[in-house]
Amino acid sequence: MDYDLTTWLNLGLRWLHVIAGVAWIGASFYFVWLDNNLRPPVPEKEGVKGELWAVHGGGFYHSQKYMVAPAHMPDHLHWFKWEAYTTWLSGFALLTVLYYVGAPVYLIDPAKHAFSQPAAIATGLAFILGGLLVYEALCRSPLGQRPRLFGTVWFLCLTGAAYALTHLFSDRGAFIHVGAIIGTAMVGNVFLVIIPNQRRIVADMLAGRDVDPRLGAMGKQRSVHNNYMTLPVIFIMISNHYPVVTGHPLAWLLLALISAGGVSIRHFFNLRHHGVIKPDFIFLGVALVVAASAVASHKPKPAEVASDVPFPVAQAIVQKHCVTCHSATPTHKGFTAPPNGAAFDTPQGMARYAPKIRERAVDSTSMPLGNETHITDAERAQLGAWIKAGAKTP
Ligand code: HEC
Repeated sequence: MDYDLTTWLNLGLRWLHVIAGVAWIGASFYFVWLDNNLRPPVPEKEGVKGELWAVHGGGFYHSQKYMVAPAHMPDHLHWFKWEAYTTWLSGFALLTVLYYVGAPVYLIDPAKHAFSQPAAIATGLAFILGGLLVYEALCRSPLGQRPRLFGTVWFLCLTGAAYALTHLFSDRGAFIHVGAIIGTAMVGNVFLVIIPNQRRIVADMLAGRDVDPRLGAMGKQRSVHNNYMTLPVIFIMISNHYPVVTGHPLAWLLLALISAGGVSIRHFFNLRHHGVIKPDFIFLGVALVVAASAVASHKPKPAEVASDVPFPVAQAIVQKHCVTCHSATPTHKGFTAPPNGAAFDTPQGMARYAPKIRERAVDSTSMPLGNETHITDAERAQLGAWIKAGAKTP
């Protein structure tokens, strides 16, 4: 039996991660929406700051928000936390299985920095932990009370991290670590602030003590931060489908532009929930993403090559640099099957995948993974010329 444990762990963890993430972000979007749509009850109700009626799934719902807390503790109180914790735990496990156990293939790019596996893992973990510490320090500093300035500073910190990471790790490894920093800060908000503060509120109430309203306000601040961080983090999670972004020499800048676009679009919706319609934020968001696409289209000129590169030349390049992994029977020890089913060991396979080969190995440098097989720019250009001339096979 040839049991491919890594692949199945990867499958299970990724599936869980996406499902938990959907549940978490879904609940988080819902509560921000709810909060923004609460209206003061008429007539006034003791302790109720706002209420909302909604209709969904065949019934009517009536939500009321108590500030700071209701006079009596209800018997059943739902705490939203396992969605967030499960997302982080599954995400971290996936990061470990894929990028740490598989560091030589997925994380280390010797062309950027020739880490040993332990050094690469330690660096990745240091960025994640360091990110959390910086974020917590900023939130607890006076900056925490000035949302826009805070947002700008934290955004610059993340962009700095993205710059450093894209110069240290493989393209995908760099992006996933920026995502892990943001995701960890977000879960940290739930684990370190929101839930403990809620526990203290409940404990104070049960003990008949006055509840400190700052506890709830801190939780709210963190939940607003999380709301703005979701769009960038979700982009990062899908970014490895877009090697034009992750593989670009200015990947960190593209990420900054796209993320800022996501924040702007999120801001539009947050205002809209309050009845303020400011389409400028949608335009700005789209403009930032378009700006990213314009930056991405500027790339160093490929090496000049003859326009008629014959098939045997292209085949020799692929044989030398790709088929250790991309073959029906890979010889690379990290693979038991061709990655994503993409095998180039036959002329048909090469022809079929030609557009994707161009995307991954000519227009970007995301393949070969970590340039393990040391393909040269001239060889990339030759592959490109063969594809441009129609990817002809004998
Ligand atoms: C060390 C192993 C390895 C080498 C060498 C390698 N690749 Fe890949 N390739 C992968 C892995 C793993 C994936 C799947 C992950 C991803 O999409 O980044 C992949 C994905 C791809 C895809 C996307 C397939 C799809 O349908 O999603 C293309 C195209 C590709 N590689 C082209 C190439 C080319 C061209 C070369 C040689 C110039 C090459 N690769 C060398 C490991 C490798």
